[in-house]
Amino acid sequence: MTKRLDACSTTIVALAIASAMAGCGSDRAPAGPSSPPISTPSDSLKSAGAGQGKLVGTAVQSGLLSQPQYNTVASREFNYLTAEYQMKWNVIEPNRGSRDFSAGDAIAGYAASQGMRIKGHTLLWHGATPSWVDALSADEFRSVVDQHIRAVMSHYRGRIHAWDVVNEAIADNGPLLRDTVFRQKLGDRYIADAFRVAREADPSALLFYNDYGGEGTNAKADRIYTLVQDLIASGVPIDGVGLQMHISASGRPSDAAIAANMRRLAGLGLIVHISEMDIRISDAGGTDQSRLEAQRAAYHDVVRVCVLEPRCEAITFWGFTDAHTWLTGDRPLLFDTAYQPKPAYLGVLDALRGR
Ligand code: XIL
Repeated sequence: MTKRLDACSTTIVALAIASAMAGCGSDRAPAGPSSPPISTPSDSLKSAGAGQGKLVGTAVQSGLLSQPQYNTVASREFNYLTAEYQMKWNVIEPNRGSRDFSAGDAIAGYAASQGMRIKGHTLLWHGATPSWVDALSADEFRSVVDQHIRAVMSHYRGRIHAWDVVNEAIADNGPLLRDTVFRQKLGDRYIADAFRVAREADPSALLFYNDYGGEGTNAKADRIYTLVQDLIASGVPIDGVGLQMHISASGRPSDAAIAANMRRLAGLGLIVHISEMDIRISDAGGTDQSRLEAQRAAYHDVVRVCVLEPRCEAITFWGFTDAHTWLTGDRPLLFDTAYQPKPAYLGVLDALRGR
């Protein structure tokens, strides 16, 4: 009996989504107060976001853009693209001195053909630094870091809305900065230096610091705040902070905490992006249906925080189909593996429409 009820409810959710996607309510009687919102055929995340002045983005992989379903959903729903990994240093320059921009160029070309903006991701990240840098002296390393930033930003100059200049530089505990190859060879000043070089290399790009785990109000968020506050006080050119938002439906920062954190970053004059959002459900209890509902509610509520914060400019999801997510074994995104919208999709759409 329980199974039958679950299947039935799942069907109702699917029908509601199909109705919203198809805009099939337009010839119905006016909606009563308890009726679900009726969508028009022109609905998409990007059009709803534009109505709120928000960019709606996704991470993509160049090799998937030619797949019809992937391409259809990417082009229909999003107006802001991030390369999931193909603009990172280890992909561009796996061997010292020979740079290959082909994959990143494919993404940039696709974005341009679709009238989408591009987020540059990311110039300095310990997780995507080519291994050949390990053998370099501090002086050599300083020089190749400088050359890397200048070469990549010059290659894409004028085409990138915002660059993640430094990614995940803050330690989760202990000293403020993570003990990366950058800090070991260059000292703490490598962050300020990177932002200064970045501003010179492409003055038209917004410059962002991007990190995870500091979305709400907690010690990591305080560390991010301290870092960017110090950078600003030192005259370092920084325009914004990306809050990655890799969260779980079963234990996420509260809306109030995310809103307060965004507000205090805005108080420093910074722009805020939700930069890599996905919401895990495999660790949530309950039925499949209740997990998907918890995911819908979480997506809705977090996106709504951005909608309500004037300095929150963009929401980027870390992919859009559960068929292609870095969180293998989970289903953290807005579309299922068959590219059908999940309840989470409707949650985001509702929030972007101010509901
Ligand atoms: C991840 C990508 O999703 C993977 O495909 C890649 O192998 C490793 O990086 N924080 C970030 C992103 O800033 O660049 C990471 O992306 C996820 C965590």
